[in-house]
Amino acid sequence: MITLILIVAVAALLAAIYLRGVYNEAYWKKRGVKFYQKSRALGIFFEFFKGDRSVLEHIEDIYCEFRNEPAVGVGSLFSPNLIVTDPTNVQHLTTVDFNSFMDRSIAPNSRDTLSNSLIFITGAKWKLIRQSMTPLFTSSKLKSMYYIMDKSAKDFVPYIKTNPKLKKGNAFNTLCTFCSAAMGAAVFGVTTESVFDSPFLKMAQKAGVTTFWQNLKFVISISSSFITRLFNVKLAAEHEAFFIGAIKQIIMERKKSNVKRHDFGDLCVALQEKGVLRDNETGLEIKPTDEILSAQAFFFFNAGVEPTATTIFNFFVLVGQHPEVQERLHREVDEAFKKSQGNLTFDIISDMEYLEMVLNESMRIYPAIGFFGRMCVKNTTLPVGNIKIDKGTTIFLPLFALQHDERYYPEPEVFKPERFSKENKDPIIDKTFMPFGKGNRMCIGQRFATVQAKAGIVHLMRHFKVNTVQISGKKIGFQKHLFAARLKNVDLEFIDR
Ligand code: HEM
Ligand SMILES: *[C@@H]1O[C@H](CO)[C@@H](O)[C@H](O)[C@H]1NC(C)=O
Ligand SMILES: *[C@@H]1O[C@H](CO)[C@@H](O)[C@H](O)[C@H]1NC(C)=O
Ligand SMILES: *[C@@H]1O[C@H](CO)[C@@H](O)[C@H](O)[C@H]1NC(C)=O
Ligand SMILES: *[C@@H]1O[C@H](CO)[C@@H](O)[C@H](O)[C@H]1NC(C)=O
Repeated sequence: MITLILIVAVAALLAAIYLRGVYNEAYWKKRGVKFYQKSRALGIFFEFFKGDRSVLEHIEDIYCEFRNEPAVGVGSLFSPNLIVTDPTNVQHLTTVDFNSFMDRSIAPNSRDTLSNSLIFITGAKWKLIRQSMTPLFTSSKLKSMYYIMDKSAKDFVPYIKTNPKLKKGNAFNTLCTFCSAAMGAAVFGVTTESVFDSPFLKMAQKAGVTTFWQNLKFVISISSSFITRLFNVKLAAEHEAFFIGAIKQIIMERKKSNVKRHDFGDLCVALQEKGVLRDNETGLEIKPTDEILSAQAFFFFNAGVEPTATTIFNFFVLVGQHPEVQERLHREVDEAFKKSQGNLTFDIISDMEYLEMVLNESMRIYPAIGFFGRMCVKNTTLPVGNIKIDKGTTIFLPLFALQHDERYYPEPEVFKPERFSKENKDPIIDKTFMPFGKGNRMCIGQRFATVQAKAGIVHLMRHFKVNTVQISGKKIGFQKHLFAARLKNVDLEFIDR
């Protein structure tokens, strides 16, 4: 009897999956959109769980097959999913028609305290919190915070020199240590000594590890807000007590002291003293509680560690493979130190042209994040292909694939910083280069992360030469990751200059 029920249940499930696939295909056909035939119901995340490749590689394959189409439908169990390939459509939905695509593809669970961060929240609430956090990321703020990053980077050099085992192997972890110290200082305030070994580093490392369960939780959150709420799926529950406690402590201490540090702690105190955050347009009011501010800090902290360390790591992998680039960078770095008598300022580091070109080209070839998403929040149309998009459609933007398309970047696999020189820069770059996303919802920490990465890079380059160490016989590839583009089969060696 039980066997029979089981057989019927499995058969019903398979039939439902099959029918869903048929429905998906018909759905996109009706709209004149080509449909990707693999996993017609379960979609790219199913492919991801099955195999050992990262999501960005699956999206890259689909992109290559359909790049002459303006967009391509892919399988999904719940809402329709679309990968948008055409740069004009990308521009349209991230910028021109932003109001129709203002949410991200992930549905947050409001009971998951630390997930109530800018990256996940939606609608009017997102707009208000984004406005409130923006003052932390202006150029002038960055300029006054620069000393924090510079100090962490400067202190990092003797830290490596006195721990010789850090010079070869496991470079990604070493770079995470630097980023975590810099973020710790920026979020929690500087101390006289940079802290390279803290509970926050362990937390960031743990938050960055992708286990099957962590991936599953993310995929559920992407797939269905209903199931996310029903099962109370939490993305960061294990860090709640520790992190919120730490932020509460800082805010309390800052309120007592009068020292201005221009960091996140100061911003928190200023927001709480104002009372409520208010959006004049919608009338929405949010009280900046310790919990809400903790959620923002939690995401800032994690974004400042993993993706930023990935960016520095990938930069050095490419620089280590190109001695002529490394030599020219060394010259630029040495000159900057000489000119500033060893005290690099925000302005000097921002003016290092070659550094910026190399960094951008390395983020083109190996961006830290492989794709990003949007959720359609009202019925609308994409201009190229005149594609009708219904409210509830999840959109994937294939940033890695766009940055590797030879129609926009001739010889896309060749590392050529000159692509980003003033003389050569092709206008198509503005439409297709997006390591930090695009439009109103792009990375709020773009400049912050860039400056932090540059600070780390110049101090390391001042003292070391970098060798790229490839695991013999194996190709450099990507680790199995949902969002991140972490390299495998490659490491770094720092050699004293
Ligand atoms: C090199 C390091 C980083 C990379 C590659 C990166 C990349 C990205 C990308 C691709 C997005 C999605 C953008 C979009 O949907 O258009 C994003 C969003 C975001 N990033 Fe970053 N990020 C980095 C560092 C940081 C840092 C250091 C912070 C904070 C201090 C930060 C804060 C955020 C926030 C808050 C969002 C969500 C913005 C919103 O939805 O309004 N990121 N980032
Ligand atoms: C919103 O209204 C308040 C009070 O009327 C005003 O002080 C504030 O500047 C306004 N904010 C914006 C962003 O317009
Ligand atoms: C470095 O330059 C900055 C900005 O000009 C200045 O505020 C700081 O005191 C200088 N630091 C040292 C150690 O000279
Ligand atoms: C959006 O479009 C779908 C079908 O394309 C339709 O069923 C629905 O009523 C529309 N919603 C609104 C608010 O117009
Ligand atoms: C490098 O990329 C950033 C965006 O990440 C852009 O703002 C900047 O202008 C680029 N620099 C050059 C030299 O192209």
